[in-house]
Amino acid sequence: MKLLITGGAGFIGSNFIRYWLNKYPLDTIVNLDALTYAGNLENLKEIEENKNYKFIKGDICDADLVNKLVKGIDLIAHFAAETHVDRSVMGSSDFVRTNIKGTMVLLDAAKNNDNIRFHHVSTDEVFGSLDSNDSAFNERTPYAPRNPYSASKAASDHLVRAYFHTHKLPITISNCSNNFGPYQFPEKFFPLFITNLIEGKKVPVYGEGKNIRDWIYVDDHNAGVDAIIKKGKIGETYCLGGETELQNIDITKKILELMGKSGEMIEYVKDRPGHDFRYAMDITKAKNELGWEPEVSFEDGLKKTIEWYKNNEEWWRNIKSGKYQDYYKKQYSHELKK
Ligand code: NAD
Ligand code: TYD
Repeated sequence: MKLLITGGAGFIGSNFIRYWLNKYPLDTIVNLDALTYAGNLENLKEIEENKNYKFIKGDICDADLVNKLVKGIDLIAHFAAETHVDRSVMGSSDFVRTNIKGTMVLLDAAKNNDNIRFHHVSTDEVFGSLDSNDSAFNERTPYAPRNPYSASKAASDHLVRAYFHTHKLPITISNCSNNFGPYQFPEKFFPLFITNLIEGKKVPVYGEGKNIRDWIYVDDHNAGVDAIIKKGKIGETYCLGGETELQNIDITKKILELMGKSGEMIEYVKDRPGHDFRYAMDITKAKNELGWEPEVSFEDGLKKTIEWYKNNEEWWRNIKSGKYQDYYKKQYSHELKK
């Protein structure tokens, strides 16, 4: 198969490319990524020489470029997005542009070129926020996004489904819960807390730390996307999750314990506006129809993740200092001069 991966220089996309080329070494991958602040080619350093892999620096909103790149492609796996809720609170426009318009450009290109198979990577956040006693989200839960990030992802999901019904585009969608693991940008909860502690800094817990997320190790999410690509029913949505609901404060305490730090390192800070209280996923459909389920326990995943950040200090220190952006400037200086 020849795959076009969008957003492959980000956290989940780069882990997906590594996963895919490892499992299907004869497939070829074109990685289209704009290298926003969240994109980092150092995430893919060990495969940049692989002859079945090609990186293209470009924007998914650039219809001319996307139309050229989809020629001969069998499948688009669409990961590119603006993804950080706190940034979407500061301003919505990049979220609307990339997550909605960018998805539309890709859908049009797929539709106009022999109906290329399209897998859309989305989030559980489109379903809104649960109370403690509510049942977990499933594929029939009505959409109720509550922040600009989740609203823009919800809009993109609706567009993807609309192209299936209107244009018969062969699509699938995955809505996954919160991911953690290697190569996650250190503005998100796990990598921020782990790297702060290595640096001897405190960890900022929003509000009282009572909010609940369902956490999944990134390779399990990518195995779920793989299962949908290979066995999913066209036109369908699959909920993916780790079946591990935890309060932020309990995760924080676990990280402190594993890193040998005391509770004094916790700093309770002002809560995020409109902070969704709880997300939870019912993954029965994916289990029954795809034979997929998460394999990495939370404890094992957390230990592996902490080890990874301890062993890859240069990677995250380059990000925290801003130096990581020099890497692509060096590699692509000829393009930047144009
Ligand atoms: P990320 O922010 O780490 O990476 C996003 C990537 O997209 C970056 O490499 C960035 O450069 C690229 N990108 C952004 N705008 C672009 C544009 N206009 N054109 C081309 N590339 C662009 O994100 P992530 O955490 O890896 O998330 C990947 C996908 O998975 C997103 O669609 C997200 O909504 C979804 N998702 C994430 C989580 C999670 O917990 N992180 C959970 C469920 C679903
Ligand atoms: P985050 O990684 O931003 O994911 P999302 O908001 O998309 O679920 O945050 C995960 C949880 O951790 C969320 O409830 C907000 C909380 N959080 C903090 O308490 N402190 C922080 O510094 C960050 C980034 C998040």
